[in-house]
Amino acid sequence: MIGRLSHVAIAVPDLKKAVHFYENLLGAEVSKPKDLQEHGVTSVFVNLPNAKIELLHPLGENSPISNYLERNPAGGMHHLCYEVKDIKEAINSLKTKGVRILGEVKIGAHGAPVVFLHPKDGLGALIELEETK
Ligand code: CO
Repeated sequence: MIGRLSHVAIAVPDLKKAVHFYENLLGAEVSKPKDLQEHGVTSVFVNLPNAKIELLHPLGENSPISNYLERNPAGGMHHLCYEVKDIKEAINSLKTKGVRILGEVKIGAHGAPVVFLHPKDGLGALIELEETK
């Protein structure tokens, strides 16, 4: 069902520092920051040849990553994102196998539908699925 790794997301307390680290110290190509109001995050993508790294910073009052940063003040790995061909089919299939889906399908940072799986059903890791054509 899942295809390629789309990205690994890292929650960061200081977006400028994080961009500086990837751009200038690691020498990677980094996108401009994008505010994703619906997700409560500002996101920057680090473009690697085989996948992306997403740097996540809280946006607004009820950002889902504020709690994460309270528990992990230095930041840390937040989620993995795998590509799927058909997100509705993936959700239906996972539900029948007892995997819990968090919330509804939303439009993600790349303009494609995304959904999150319950970390307790994902070996302790938060997993995002992203539909790709
Ligand atoms: Co993501």
